[in-house]
Amino acid sequence: MRILGISGSLRAESHNTKLLREAAKMLPESCEFTLFDGLADVPPYNEDHDHDPRPVGAQRFIDAVRSADGLLFSTPEYNFSIPGQLKNAIDWASRPMGSAALAFTPAAVMGTSLGSFGAVWAQAELRKVLGACGARVIDGEVALNYAGEVFDNGAPMSAEHLAQIVQLTTALLAEIANVPTQH
Ligand SMILES: Cc1cc2nc3c(=O)[nH]c(=O)nc-3n(C[C@H](O)[C@H](O)[C@H](O)COP(=O)(O)O)c2cc1C
Repeated sequence: MRILGISGSLRAESHNTKLLREAAKMLPESCEFTLFDGLADVPPYNEDHDHDPRPVGAQRFIDAVRSADGLLFSTPEYNFSIPGQLKNAIDWASRPMGSAALAFTPAAVMGTSLGSFGAVWAQAELRKVLGACGARVIDGEVALNYAGEVFDNGAPMSAEHLAQIVQLTTALLAEIANVPTQH
């Protein structure tokens, strides 16, 4: 199974990107995990340009989504929502309705933040947006709070957070196994 990891953060030392790397280590060996590295190169969505040939950065994101069996997101929370760069890329992969790259694609959402809430509002927003795009969204979350403790200070991840990752990724793989290839 090919899993595409998508971090909503462009930061070089992003905690969300690090969370994706940790989750990838916990996937079964049968999974091929790729971390999408081109989010910063996706131009602002423009419907006038949403036709062949699309802008290179946008097409690269669309192709990466299409070639994956499932998507594993990790998003920061920016002002109670998802970062603009992530929403922008999703908009590119959401058209045409019904046959878009995101349509019918299994997708799971994690998140981490410096504070006590673990980006739960951003995760809820991202699940909503992915659902609007027709993705098969897993009902679950990984809300890793106090990210600095784990990723900057070297504290071990709690058993609760490890269990959340296992539960979410197991559900994602199950959803992939049940979904016939649509794209
Ligand atoms: C523009 C901006 C808005 C933010 N808004 C929130 C917020 O609403 N809630 C929250 O918990 N953290 C907020 N934060 C803090 C981020 O959660 C924190 O910077 C996070 O670690 C970023 O993720 P990253 O390490 O993956 O880049 C905000 C940060 C920025 C830069």
